Amino acid sequence: MCGIIGISSNQPVSSDLINSLSKLEYRGYDSAGLAVFSDGNIIERKTQGKLNNLIQRLKNDPIDGHVGIGHTRWATHGIPSEKNAHPHSSSLVSVVHNGIIENAEEIKKDIKSDYNFLSDTDSEVITALLTQNLNKENDYYKAVSLTVQRLEGSYALAIMFKDLKDTIIGAKKGSPLVVGRGEKGSFVGSDTIALSSVATEVCYLEDGDIVIVDNHNIKIFDQQEKSVNRDYVNFSISQDDTSKGTFNHFMEKEIHEQPRSVGDTLRQFIDYDNSIISNPDLKINWQKVNKVHLIACGTAYYSCMIAKYFFEQQSKVPSECDMASEFRYRDPIISKDTLYVFVSQSGETADTLAALNYCNKHNAETLSIVNVVNSSIARESKHIIYTKAGPEIGVASTKAFTAQVITLLSLSIICGSSKDLISNNQNQIMCKSMLTSPKIIEEAIQRSYALKDAAKELIGSKGVMYLGRGTAFPLALEGALKFKEISYIHAEGYPAGEMKHGPLALIEKGLPVVCIVPSGPLFHKTISNIQEVIARGGKILMITDDSSLQSESENIWKIFRLPDVDPILETLIYTIPIQMLAYYTAVELGNDVDQPRNLAKSVTVE
Ligand code: F6R
Repeated sequence: MCGIIGISSNQPVSSDLINSLSKLEYRGYDSAGLAVFSDGNIIERKTQGKLNNLIQRLKNDPIDGHVGIGHTRWATHGIPSEKNAHPHSSSLVSVVHNGIIENAEEIKKDIKSDYNFLSDTDSEVITALLTQNLNKENDYYKAVSLTVQRLEGSYALAIMFKDLKDTIIGAKKGSPLVVGRGEKGSFVGSDTIALSSVATEVCYLEDGDIVIVDNHNIKIFDQQEKSVNRDYVNFSISQDDTSKGTFNHFMEKEIHEQPRSVGDTLRQFIDYDNSIISNPDLKINWQKVNKVHLIACGTAYYSCMIAKYFFEQQSKVPSECDMASEFRYRDPIISKDTLYVFVSQSGETADTLAALNYCNKHNAETLSIVNVVNSSIARESKHIIYTKAGPEIGVASTKAFTAQVITLLSLSIICGSSKDLISNNQNQIMCKSMLTSPKIIEEAIQRSYALKDAAKELIGSKGVMYLGRGTAFPLALEGALKFKEISYIHAEGYPAGEMKHGPLALIEKGLPVVCIVPSGPLFHKTISNIQEVIARGGKILMITDDSSLQSESENIWKIFRLPDVDPILETLIYTIPIQMLAYYTAVELGNDVDQPRNLAKSVTVE
C-alpha cells in the first residue's frame, strides 16, 4: 500500500527520492508525488499513474533541494488522480501519509469553514490540522503532537514545515515507519527497502513516536513526549535482493529463488549433530499445546490450511484456521492451551495484526511466522520465527509461501516429537527427506518450463477451475488465487470431492480444469471426481508425478509430471507448477505481473 520517504541530506535529494520511491513501487500504487525545499519554498510535483509519469514531469519541470518527502499512493478515499496524490500541502506545511484516518469526515466538518480542502482524501485533514495547530501554538513539535492526538486510525507521516528548513518530522501509529542514517544524511521511510540505497543503519519507531530529523541529527520522542533512544541496527540489503537481475519480472526471479529460500528457512530447524528437526531457541512448551489455531490472510492463509493437515497428522493436535479479516468479529473464545499462530510475509497486514492484538489482549500464547524482520506482527508476538525468503517484491506471493510451508511442517514435526508421537528415528528420516527439498524444487522449476504452452491455451478462457483433495485442496485455492490475481481471468479452487454438490454446473465443453493429483491414498478418489468433470466436457490439465498410474488419454488435455517425492514434501513441490502456470499466462497476456491492477503488497488497511 502507500509508501513514504523523507530525506534530509547534504546533497540534492530529488534523484534519491525517486530512487526510494521506485523501491516502494512493489507495495502497489496508483499515483506518486514529492515535495522539496527549494529557494525557501516547498515545491511539489505529483502525477497519476506509474512513477515514470512523475519522472517525466520532473524532467520537464525540474525541482531540487537538500530536503524532501515523497509518496506512492494506493487509493482508499478518493480516486487515483493528481489532486488526490500526496504530498498534501498548505502555505505552511507539506505532508505524506500512509494509513487511514478513520475520523477524517468528523475533522473535516469541524474545520472546513477555516480550511480550503483541495482533495477527496482522508490524509488532507492532517495538513489542515497541522496548519491550524501551528497557527495556534507556533511550535512545530507541539503542532505535530496536537495533530496526531486528534487522529483515529493509522498513520505513518513525513512532514516538512515551510519555515523549518533542513528538517523532516515523522510520526507513527499503526503503520510502520523506519528511521535511517547514512553518509548522505538522515531518512524516514515506510520500510527498510525504501532506505536500502541511502541508509547504513536503521531503527524502528514505536507507536506514538514522533521523530525530528535533519541532515546529521535524529531525535525521537515517545507518546509521553519523553526523548527516547531506539536501537539502531546495521543493515544492508544487497542490490541483488531489490533488482530483477537477469529475470524479466520479480515474480519470475522469486519463483526461481525458492530452492535457496526454502533451504535457508529450513536450516534454522536442523540440528546437524543429531540430524533431526528441532529448534531449541523457540521457547514453546509443546507438551502443553492441545490445539493450534492458525490465522492469516490470502496466500498466507492457504499455508495455514496446509499446516492444519501437518499438525493433525504429525502431532495429533486439533487445528483450526481463520481468515484474519473475520477472526475477531465472531468474538472467538481464547483458550489457554491453544497456540495461536499468525502467518504473514509483510508482518504488517492490518487484519492479521488486529487478530494478534485481540489474542494478546486475552493473554493467549502467540507465535508469528513472518518474513520481514522487526515488522509490527513480529514485534507484537510472544514467539517469533522468521522465514528466510528475503525481500519479496512481486505482489503475488511465491517464495514467502513455500518458506511458510516448510516452517509450518518443521513446527508440526517439532510438536509431534515433543509429545513423543514421533520417534528420533522417524524424525531423522523426515529431516533427511526435507533436506532434499531445495534440489527437488529446482527440478520442479526446470520441468515447469513446459507449462508455457498450456498457459498460451488458457488465454481467452472464460474461467479456470483448480481441484484437489487433501493438502492438494488448499493448493488448488492457492493456484486459483495466483492465477486470478495476475491474469485477471476468473479462477476458482475447489475440493474435487465437492464438485457434485454444486460447482459441477459450471463445467461446460472446453472449460480448463487444473487438477492437482499426486500419487497416494487420494489418487483414485480424485480421478473419479475428474471423470465426472471430463464427462461434462472439462478440459483437464492434470498435475501429477512420475509414478502416477494415469496415462495420457484422449480425454485428458495435458498431463504434467513432477518428480516422485516423499508425501510430506508434496505441497512444496506441487506449488511450483501452479505458480509458473499463473506467471506464464499473465506474461502471455501482457499484464503487469509484479504490480497487478488494484492490488498492494503490504495491506495495511482493514
Ligand atoms: C497473494 C498475496 C496475498 C497475501 C496477503 C497476506 O499472492 O500475496 O494474498 O498473501 O495479502 O499478506 P501477508 O502475508 O503480508 O500478511
